Amino acid sequence: MKTYIVGNWKMNLTIGESSIYLQKLLKRIKPAKGLEIAVAPSVIALQPLRMQIDKIKSKVKLAVQNFYHRDYGAYTGEVSIMQLRGLVDYAIIGHSERRYLFNETNKDIRQKVAAAIRNGITPILCIGETENEKSFGETVDVIKDQLNSGLSEIDAEDVKKVIIAYEPVWAISSNKGARLAAPDDVAESINTIREELKAIYGSAVAEEVAVLYGGSVNPNNAGAYLTIPGVNGLLIGGSSLISDHFIDIIETAKRVKG
Ligand code: 13P
Repeated sequence: MKTYIVGNWKMNLTIGESSIYLQKLLKRIKPAKGLEIAVAPSVIALQPLRMQIDKIKSKVKLAVQNFYHRDYGAYTGEVSIMQLRGLVDYAIIGHSERRYLFNETNKDIRQKVAAAIRNGITPILCIGETENEKSFGETVDVIKDQLNSGLSEIDAEDVKKVIIAYEPVWAISSNKGARLAAPDDVAESINTIREELKAIYGSAVAEEVAVLYGGSVNPNNAGAYLTIPGVNGLLIGGSSLISDHFIDIIETAKRVKG
């Protein structure tokens, strides 16, 4: 199983800033076997960054942060995953900022997962409970529900191409009062995800699905999250905007998982 270090830049960095960042990253990181590095810039920066990567044949991957589930048509302002083919390898889907700030429903999310698979792009399906759900003891139910509905159009063969990212909403640094998730709590949720994948697809298939952790990951805590059993990588917001921090986390992943 590969280890994935994915930087979600959210709505930050101009095209120029993205390009300078990438240049630094490409210069400083050495490819390591089994380690997959991806960044998700703003959609407008995807093409220039793609050219930068291709020019030096780097293995760094690009991810899109959002797209519309239909391939083409009269959908003013939208970008389809079909149009993103050749630009990205990964697509972040169901991020809590999309669910709660832009009212994306479980139906939207499962259609996007299916669209990504249909177009040969790896979905990174984000799931996780809110602060309220956690306080009502609903974490397990929320995880199972989001997992089942997000994957409801995906069969056992295709689910091996899906990456799940567990991001407890209350631990995401953009939230007021975000706090660090204790590795033990994360371990419990990762276990819930694995058990549910087993229940849906059987153990052999479930073991092939990569599961990432995201939520206030930084260079100091990355090692602790990466050593949780069943965690295959990290989805990083704030710390991925500082290239030195992102590179530090990549180095940690090499040490811990190498
Ligand atoms: P932070 O790392 O800033 O908490 O963001 C996590 C996230 O939302 C990644 O998708």
